[in-house]
Amino acid sequence: VSPRPFQVRELLIALNRQARTPLAHQLENQLRDAILRGRLASGQQLPSTRMLAEQLGVSRGVVLRAYAQLGAEGHLTLRQGANPLVRVVGVPGPDILSGVHDGDGPRFRYDLRPERPDLSQFPRGQWLRSLRHALDTATDAEVGYIDSRGLRSLREEIARYLARARGLAVTANRIVITGGSTHALVLIERVLVRQGKRVIAFENPSHELLHTLSRRAGLEPLGIPIDDDGLLVDELRRSAASAVVAAPAHQFPIGLTYSKERQLELLRWADETDSLIVEDDFNAGFRYDRAPIGAIQGSAPERVAYIGSISKTLAPGLRLGWAVLPASLVDDVAGELEGAMQHLPALEQLALADFVRRAEFDRHLRRLRGIYRKRRDLLVRTLRNELPQYPVRGIAGGMHVFLELPSVADEANAWARARQAGLGVESIGEHALAGYGGPRGLLIGYGAEHERALIRAAHELAGAIRESVGRGDKPRPLTHLA
Ligand SMILES: Cc1ncc(COP(=O)(O)O)c(C=O)c1O
Repeated sequence: VSPRPFQVRELLIALNRQARTPLAHQLENQLRDAILRGRLASGQQLPSTRMLAEQLGVSRGVVLRAYAQLGAEGHLTLRQGANPLVRVVGVPGPDILSGVHDGDGPRFRYDLRPERPDLSQFPRGQWLRSLRHALDTATDAEVGYIDSRGLRSLREEIARYLARARGLAVTANRIVITGGSTHALVLIERVLVRQGKRVIAFENPSHELLHTLSRRAGLEPLGIPIDDDGLLVDELRRSAASAVVAAPAHQFPIGLTYSKERQLELLRWADETDSLIVEDDFNAGFRYDRAPIGAIQGSAPERVAYIGSISKTLAPGLRLGWAVLPASLVDDVAGELEGAMQHLPALEQLALADFVRRAEFDRHLRRLRGIYRKRRDLLVRTLRNELPQYPVRGIAGGMHVFLELPSVADEANAWARARQAGLGVESIGEHALAGYGGPRGLLIGYGAEHERALIRAAHELAGAIRESVGRGDKPRPLTHLA
């Protein structure tokens, strides 16, 4: 069924009654301009002469004359007893923004980018039920201006969920609902900038996006090396940074988990130097072989700002996440959010609260874990069969693996070859900060592609790597990470 033609009711026309140009000419010029510049699209219905005359406070004759002229020029299709239709001939002009940047990102034959969830798994039916429930039950106050930290009912559900599933020490009043974990990070960083901080430490490598956002927020990201046990805390001490972003449960992009010893060392550093750890727990729900390790926030809630979101578990487009904050940061972070947008949209918050309360979130996660585990197994098996000489790392959780290659040049060649073939992999180099000297290789996501496509993609990728990587070199073991 084709949609009914869109009838334009809101049309910006400004007539100047003092001008010498007759009103009908002014109207005709402005309509022509709107059509030529692409502000009015082909097939749109303009208002009837009576309605537009009324809206502009002119006689119907003025509108009739303007429409007749544009009809004669071919810009409008005039129809007896019906509203005129816009007719665009050729390419619309520069006022239309489509095609500037559609924000959908690059297109690949196979999307093997790390940490891309399978968006076809988004539980639309269950979400709709929660959204409907939200609309049915929202009080007037809940659709007015709400607490800038977010709706209390959602903060309570998230607090309960994080306490039971991730071991957090948390109450609703320590939570700020944000537009994702990156938003949470940026809000915290703005507060740090206000406190006079200039630098923020990161594991090296770590996600390039977080580095870019930090720079925009006014902080210089400083890379701290990691080894098999996690971030090298001695290096952090030497750096004089007083805030660090870390992902102890599942480091991106290497995929390692911090040893207990290293977690304690990191917490000691924060205590002794009065510093802040931003714990990025963006994908901790996905561990396939063992139970996930708890968040370090649970051991030091006044030293750790914990950030997370539903981007990997539900969908990034919903833009919902949270920060769990030390008492000293709650008001400042909520204030930063309030300054930009008052608070996150309330209906989605109510829907998420309902979704978690009805245990749909738990059920959905369990289902996804099964799906991603199968994909991981398929990918790892194919890579190990086809490329036994290169270690496959970071397989315990998340939605990608790290295929270690012998050298920087091999990484670059393999990446270029893979991209040429339409395989959307990433490389370690894309996520490295200055001074990186650790292992190199490709990051291969298994979240977004279905099983059969994933196997085909893995075979093609193996071929691309065999063609591009120098033979005979021994890959460097992970213990040389630092
Ligand atoms: C390390 C890391 N943190 C956070 C995110 C997600 O950010 P958000 O929760 O804002 O969607 C990503 C996205 O890929 C990521 O890779």
